[in-house]
Amino acid sequence: MYRKLVLSVILMLVLVVLTVAYVAFEPSRQAGAAKRQRDEAVAQGAKLYAASCMSCHGPRGGGAIGPPLDRAVFREGGPEELRAASEPLREAIRAGRPGTAIPSFLRAPDGSWISRTVMPPWTQEKGGPLTAQGVEDLVAFIQYGDWSKPVALAGAPKMEGQAPATRGLSPQEAEKGLALFRAKGCLGCHALGNMGGKQGPDLTNVGSWRDAQFLRDVIQDPNRVDRSNYIWITGQKIPMGKPLMPAIPMNADELKTLVDYLSALGPAPIAAQAPRPAAGLPTPAAVVPTAAPTAAPPAVTKPQATPTAAASAPTPTTAPAPAAPTRPEAVAGDPALGKTVFDASCNACHPSGRQGVGPSLVGLATRQGEGAISSSIRNGKGSMPPFAESTINAKQLADLLAFLGTLK
Ligand code: HEC
Ligand code: HEC
Ligand code: HEC
Repeated sequence: MYRKLVLSVILMLVLVVLTVAYVAFEPSRQAGAAKRQRDEAVAQGAKLYAASCMSCHGPRGGGAIGPPLDRAVFREGGPEELRAASEPLREAIRAGRPGTAIPSFLRAPDGSWISRTVMPPWTQEKGGPLTAQGVEDLVAFIQYGDWSKPVALAGAPKMEGQAPATRGLSPQEAEKGLALFRAKGCLGCHALGNMGGKQGPDLTNVGSWRDAQFLRDVIQDPNRVDRSNYIWITGQKIPMGKPLMPAIPMNADELKTLVDYLSALGPAPIAAQAPRPAAGLPTPAAVVPTAAPTAAPPAVTKPQATPTAAASAPTPTTAPAPAAPTRPEAVAGDPALGKTVFDASCNACHPSGRQGVGPSLVGLATRQGEGAISSSIRNGKGSMPPFAESTINAKQLADLLAFLGTLK
């Protein structure tokens, strides 16, 4: 009897000790498992970054065609802050950001480069290549990974393949340019057609978004380009990292051959397609459109078949236009579609319709008629560039006007 009692007391004690031990060690076991899971995601994310993101966001995440992703804001704070910071990352990767598919930059009056480049949507649900897990892996890499890792994961560049077509060069000139691009090692870091590397931006269409001066500067010394000066579609200016492209030594002849070759790649820039009418503007060249927004062929044949231009004449003199004037064309605008046009072409200067490089557009539709607004868009105004049919077609303009009407 007595022995039984002692035994059960001992048993009880053992149970208590075991329970205490379990309670004490379980969290650290769970934490260990969570850490292994995160390390796995980070490693996977680094590979995905090297394969799909590096060419636009830079070899070490310091930014290039897209903004830098190595920013402290994504890595600061406790679990709550980190979770909050992961949301916009996840959303941007999942759904992308609107813009033009060929990288495109405008130069603002103060020298800023305004991006109009699309951030592609990446999830399968949006037509991209990534699974939901892939997106999580990338978010984990951006928040916890080591930015020195992706370069080594990019794989060997493909040195043979199909070079892209050139604009206005003889076959001999094009061949000479390509040979030099190869000989100077550019192809090791930059894609050209279906060949090349992934560290630097894909240069297949570079002639439609950068001018000769910029190309000369970058090749001679990447530090000559002021990268603190990029404004993204969100209207934000985000400091970029130091450029990682090495200065490539070459003589004046070689530099000219290479710049001529790069300038001939891709669709003609807007400026060459449709020179901006000086139209008595005080500062005609304050904004230099340097890029063709789409791969669309030059469509300068119709001399402005815009019904809106005619409607613009009487409006300024009449009393403030009613909030919803009848449109001069039968097409009804869709404000939701208009928002995507706005995000791609206007938001960098009028962030969310508010004051940025350009003035606030809030309530504009109650102060001006659609004719006057269309005319600002089609013809440009002050340092705002004009947007021709080839950039924003009549339907998109109607959508845009409908969207502007919602800015109250
Ligand atoms: C064709 C170039 C391109 C590629 C490829 C690309 N991006 Fe982007 N990305 C951009 C641009 C341009 C923006 C900025 C859009 C804007 O102006 O708001 C951007 C924005 C982002 C943002 C939002 C940053 C912020 O500050 O809001 C994240 C996150 C991002 N990209 C992640 C990725 C990831 C991850 C990949 C690879 C799966 C990737 N991007 C591939 C061009 C690219
Ligand atoms: C070691 C890799 C590397 C080599 C080699 C290299 N580049 Fe780059 N290049 C980059 C990176 C990375 C960027 C993005 C900006 C940065 O971080 O410097 C870049 C940016 C550029 C840009 C600017 C694109 C833009 O619109 O912002 C041009 C043009 C360019 N390189 C041309 C060349 C040419 C021409 C050569 C050969 C003479 C060359 N690069 C060799 C890595 C390289
Ligand atoms: C490169 C920067 C830039 C871009 C891109 C831009 N704007 Fe502007 N916008 C300006 C500036 C600067 C002004 C002021 C011009 C002035 O009055 O001197 C302006 C003025 C305007 C005005 C006239 C406002 C008024 O009070 O009369 C309208 C309307 C307008 N922008 C709409 C748009 C729309 C719509 C888009 C996109 C299709 C767009 N802007 C793209 C810079 C820009």
